[in-house]
Amino acid sequence: MKIVFAASEAAPFIKTGGLGDVAGALPDALSHQKGAEVLVFLPYYKSVKNNPDIKTEFLKSFAVSLSWRVQHVGVFRLKSKKKKHQVYFIDNEYYFGKDGAYGYADDGERFAYFSKAILESLVQLGIKPDIIHANDWQTALIPVLLHAFYEEPLGGAKTVFTIHNMEYQGKCDPYFIPDVLGLPESYTNTMIFGDNTNFMKGAILMSDAVTTVSHTYADEIRYPYFAHGLASIISAHAFKLRGIVNGIDTKRYDPAADPELSVPYDIATYKDGKRAAKEALQRELGLPVRGDVPMIGIVSRLVEHKGMGLLCGLLDELMRWDLQIAIVGTGDYAFEHDLSHAAYSHPDKLSVTLRFDQKLASRIYAASDFYLMPSKSEPCGLSQLIAMRYGSVPIVHAIGGLRDTIEPWNPETGDGTGFTFQSFCALDMIDAIRRAFTLYGTDKEAFSRLIENGMRRDSSWDVPAGEYRQLYNELRPDKA
Ligand code: GLC
Repeated sequence: MKIVFAASEAAPFIKTGGLGDVAGALPDALSHQKGAEVLVFLPYYKSVKNNPDIKTEFLKSFAVSLSWRVQHVGVFRLKSKKKKHQVYFIDNEYYFGKDGAYGYADDGERFAYFSKAILESLVQLGIKPDIIHANDWQTALIPVLLHAFYEEPLGGAKTVFTIHNMEYQGKCDPYFIPDVLGLPESYTNTMIFGDNTNFMKGAILMSDAVTTVSHTYADEIRYPYFAHGLASIISAHAFKLRGIVNGIDTKRYDPAADPELSVPYDIATYKDGKRAAKEALQRELGLPVRGDVPMIGIVSRLVEHKGMGLLCGLLDELMRWDLQIAIVGTGDYAFEHDLSHAAYSHPDKLSVTLRFDQKLASRIYAASDFYLMPSKSEPCGLSQLIAMRYGSVPIVHAIGGLRDTIEPWNPETGDGTGFTFQSFCALDMIDAIRRAFTLYGTDKEAFSRLIENGMRRDSSWDVPAGEYRQLYNELRPDKA
């Protein structure tokens, strides 16, 4: 079975968020499934092209049309002996020769181009996929363009569209449909939602299957609170929607092999490893060096939907407690400002590093006793999985993937992996932190068990890769 996996980012080449983690690890896991041949397509961004460690070979160049535009496509392929799957890069300096991946006025056109260029590349390279798997708004046009322009050469392919986050749907002017996509008028109903051309709506309508990254989120997005306007569209297509919970790259996120840790550890040695990591981090961040103080870690974008508003509203209260909080991340100015201000006033309790810094993130996962994730909505969330692997106990708002992956601690049975709160409100969150700290302070044995439950959890990609394969098999029983 030939599977084309299309994404706008993938670790280790380029990553700005969770999609990059997934697109970096899932194709690899899929390629180890029996009979699977996986081809990943990514944009050849400037940063990727200029990276001397990423070696590629040129395959072919040709033109693709976007309505009246005729644009260049260069296809490069990664030279790698390590990977079982192939990675292709779509080259076009006009669209991808910018400094970053997203955030430009012509993003809609850039990713419309990317989606069409992938389909054209398949034709030009003589690749006949059985499955084309698109991800998020940036590649959401693939099922639509396939249907409109590539039925004949690629028609046998079935399409899967994965929603990693409903918030970003790819919205453009209605004029985009004829002027950039070159679609006939008959596609207007498919593509228009409200006052916009909506890429995600098009993908939901035109894909053979839609998935999202947890079971709970698959239910939640049928409701307006979570669906960012598309609830009715999701409800009408719920028959082809399913949730598949993400995994993480367990080789990359492994406290026994993490170069950031001076004392690597596993489940047998975590007490020593975490003690050393905590002391080192306290020194590094200028926090008082104390083993006994409960430390909360946060590695997050500092934005409202990650629960930063809720956290900022509680800082005054939390700063009265005996605790330490270490935060790393960037985001909205208001949260960056409020958090730095609080850190300035409470240097002995709160450390805030306003950077995207994956190395410091590793040190925080290892050093912290708890990992706070008060997200307002969370399609899956990956950092709670990383935290558990590093023996940091999650305290989470029980929604989306957080509900699916964190089982509340049960003192009766000794089961569970973290602490959860049900409603998105200050009192509930404070109560969860208080319950967590009480266990930490009063029952070391139970607390150790809780840590170990989390460290033992299988968060590898093996299970989800099997579920995707199952879905592909259902769509292409002839290739199962
Ligand atoms: C998005 C979601 C996050 C999910 C990730 C990968 O970043 O916000 O919850 O884990 O995609 O699917």
